[in-house]
Amino acid sequence: MENTITVGLLGLGTVGSGVIEILNDHQERIQHKTGCAVTIKSVLVSDTSKPRELSETVNLTDRYEDITRDPEIDVIVEVMGGIDHTLTILLEAIENGKHVVTANKDLIAQHGAQLFEACQKNNCDLYYEASVAGGIPIIRSIMDGLSSDRITKMMGIVNGTTNYIMTKMAQEGVDFDSVLKEAQDLGFAEADPTADVDGLDAARKMTILSILGFSMPFNLEDVEVKGIRNISLEDIRYAEELGYRIKLIGIAENDESGVSVSVEPSLLPAQHPLSSVNDEFNAVYVYGDAVGETMFYGPGAGKLPTATAVVADLIAVLKNIRLGTTGTAYVQPQFPHQLKSKSERQSKKYIRLHVVDRAGMLNEITSIFAEYGISFDQVIQRSTNKDDERELMMVTHRVSEEDFEKAKHDLEQLSSVRSIDSIFRVEGGD
Ligand code: NAP
Ligand code: HSE
Repeated sequence: MENTITVGLLGLGTVGSGVIEILNDHQERIQHKTGCAVTIKSVLVSDTSKPRELSETVNLTDRYEDITRDPEIDVIVEVMGGIDHTLTILLEAIENGKHVVTANKDLIAQHGAQLFEACQKNNCDLYYEASVAGGIPIIRSIMDGLSSDRITKMMGIVNGTTNYIMTKMAQEGVDFDSVLKEAQDLGFAEADPTADVDGLDAARKMTILSILGFSMPFNLEDVEVKGIRNISLEDIRYAEELGYRIKLIGIAENDESGVSVSVEPSLLPAQHPLSSVNDEFNAVYVYGDAVGETMFYGPGAGKLPTATAVVADLIAVLKNIRLGTTGTAYVQPQFPHQLKSKSERQSKKYIRLHVVDRAGMLNEITSIFAEYGISFDQVIQRSTNKDDERELMMVTHRVSEEDFEKAKHDLEQLSSVRSIDSIFRVEGGD
């Protein structure tokens, strides 16, 4: 085996600088585990004139070909983000026989299959542990630790930025925009933070987990996605009054009728373990037929936690090089793509609405729900600043998406309903 493995680093932002720090701090440990030293030869950035702290032996470049076509480079560590341009760069690198480690969930969720195919053809490795839940080794746990089981459900908080924002809103009453800025300054948010806020980042992670956990081809478009923009401080307070916390939850379920995957703000009982996952921390429950319930918890974003996962992947590549087993890890999904219909997707729901305060109003509303077989777990009524108006918060028992949508449509036609302000899924505590 070669004594030194040469790395080309794509990106030197939050994660890239963490990778350099960990490689510097743990060089001896890595050498002990893998039998070889790691050296970073070149780093790709978009602006080479920015001031950086880099050793003089490292080439800084804004031309990706300097890395993908350099015969001395063995492994590409991609921590720059982006989809189409990054795909082109990585495919060229793989064609040139380079192994790839990436933290890029956008790319893996959308083009993972194409990258794996290229890797198999060229005998190259592709690892992406940092793409889901930052420092939590969730991909390895699903691929290895739980590989003997049939996974039936995965549920958790997989976006650090939105969890940070919602924690600060709930605990400190801080407004959305200023907490988002804090999350960006701390390096948690994506370059375009709308991917975090609108749930797309979490949806990409749930796509990756679903493909691996259920061994089924799965597309980002199959995920039902709602972000956190519509969560108001009122919803947070009312949820607390009903005994819940609001979290952005990804849920992937698999049973005989198929798979459903969603990312949406959801109410969880205050005593549920996910309710205590705060700030940028993530946690994922994985349920298996044989193992039952397992939970993985840790930092979901940030420089060093994410870089830890990236460097662990790099160590896996080094071990494979030593064993002569590179390019062999990928296994095609075992099962065909099968999605649940709306009538098969069931959950409890929270609904908040403003209604006209008149005799028989409550009866009109509950009759509509009763028509679709929907009953209630909890109902609260509050006065508003208008004499003729009341605010209603209701939590249903389990209901199908199809029936709930029909009931919502009928409610919108009622003259006693002034507005439907929010609707959230309710998880846990069944
Ligand atoms: P970042 O701080 O914005 O850094 C991006 C780096 O890539 C910068 O050095 C930038 O160059 C370079 N870059 C971007 N586009 C480029 C292009 N087209 N050509 C050349 N260089 C380019 O991003 P980050 O937070 O480190 O995230 C990097 C990746 O890791 C993303 O895929 C992200 O989703 C993923 N990730 C991030 C975290 C986290 O906590 N931050 C966690 C898990 C996964 P300049 O320095 O010149 O601007
Ligand atoms: N923006 C992402 C998050 C980074 O906040 O979870 C980690 O994937």
